[in-house]
Amino acid sequence: MAPLTSSRFHVAGELRVPGDKSISHRALIFGALAEGPSRVRDILPSADVHSTAGVLRALGVDIPALGPSIEFTGVGPQGLRAPDRDLDCGNSGTSARLLAGVVAGSGLTGRFVGDLSLSGRPMGRVKRPLEAMGATIEVSEKGGLPMVVRGGTLQQIEWENANSSAQVKSCVLLAALCSGVEATVREPTRSRDHTERLLAAHGVEVWVNEGAVLLFGGQKLTPLDLQVPGDPSSAAFFAALAALAPQGELLLRDVCVNEARTGFLAALAEMGATIDMRDKVLRSGEWVANLHVSAGAGLRGVTIPAEAIPTLIDELPLLACIAAYAEGETRVTGAEELRVKESDRISAVVNNLKSLGADADELPDGFIVRGTNPRLRGSVVTHGDHRLAMAFGVLGTIPGNEIAVDDRVCVAVSYPEFWADLARVTA
Ligand code: S3P
Repeated sequence: MAPLTSSRFHVAGELRVPGDKSISHRALIFGALAEGPSRVRDILPSADVHSTAGVLRALGVDIPALGPSIEFTGVGPQGLRAPDRDLDCGNSGTSARLLAGVVAGSGLTGRFVGDLSLSGRPMGRVKRPLEAMGATIEVSEKGGLPMVVRGGTLQQIEWENANSSAQVKSCVLLAALCSGVEATVREPTRSRDHTERLLAAHGVEVWVNEGAVLLFGGQKLTPLDLQVPGDPSSAAFFAALAALAPQGELLLRDVCVNEARTGFLAALAEMGATIDMRDKVLRSGEWVANLHVSAGAGLRGVTIPAEAIPTLIDELPLLACIAAYAEGETRVTGAEELRVKESDRISAVVNNLKSLGADADELPDGFIVRGTNPRLRGSVVTHGDHRLAMAFGVLGTIPGNEIAVDDRVCVAVSYPEFWADLARVTA
């Protein structure tokens, strides 16, 4: 298969992608739980993070409008007040699941609601541990939102998570922290560890040992001055673009390179891209670096082992998309979680690839894509899923492809400036 060679296809420039979404949610929540003034710089001002800010305001925390540098005063778990309105999480699973732990552990009652996509996502995974701790949780008939959380003084817990989920792990740890009790969470493969790292930066003792996370009881958070690093899941779209484009290089500045999040970069390097990580530093417990990315001699297909899935879970739709331009077969298994994300990302990405003219198949827990260097034409059905819109947006920049994305606005969930940044580096 000949690599993409069009002289019209080049990238150039540098980019500082917006702040990491997972860390931005936690920066607000942990700042609210610390007593005293916190400062957060470079927070992601996206719809999902606005949802977390809105819920915290409904719980009585005076969170200012999100901007490049925000300051607010945390009230501690005891200072939160009972909400007088629904806790609207919009499209954000992280808001719903983490804040359910906060409400439960703080002895409050709150009714969580969200948009159509979030309302259909499973909440049983937080209901079970929170009820084991002594809270009462009512979910919809289908197991999703609306969800009423009735908290109390909770008991300590040792929880074995059936799947690896940072949202569930964080929910349990936050419930325990707010109630002042001990918690241990085990999971099959360790999920992203931003909660553990940021809690430690807030002065909370968290012990990590062989897949288990232990939070000691009776601890308080100290306030923090935090700079949020760039989101590796947003940087991934531009790394993929630079790997596809035969000419040029992109410099992605200040990206979080926490090992629990760099699975996509590892896959891209294995596929043949040139990725140079420079100036790596540790900031507030998170590794941050500058990434220089360019195409190698053409991409090859890759097989992702099941144990690596949590390190690139949000980048798998993008991997499926670029695999259409990688020689041979790309195979992903052990990723059934993709079916309960903002959309069923297995069927959505495979159906869209097929309808545009690529060679792809669904597996129950993943997908196979055969690289054919296709000329893709048609319209993408995003189901309002931001990551699908952006993944196909990247393919739309390849000369010869004519791809319309049905909902371009949904990128506001995680990367409001995505289309402008994409246009800038491909101009
Ligand atoms: C997140 C955890 C992951 C990820 C999501 C953000 C977080 O979800 O897919 O985008 O911030 O904790 P799961 O915990 O459900 O795997």
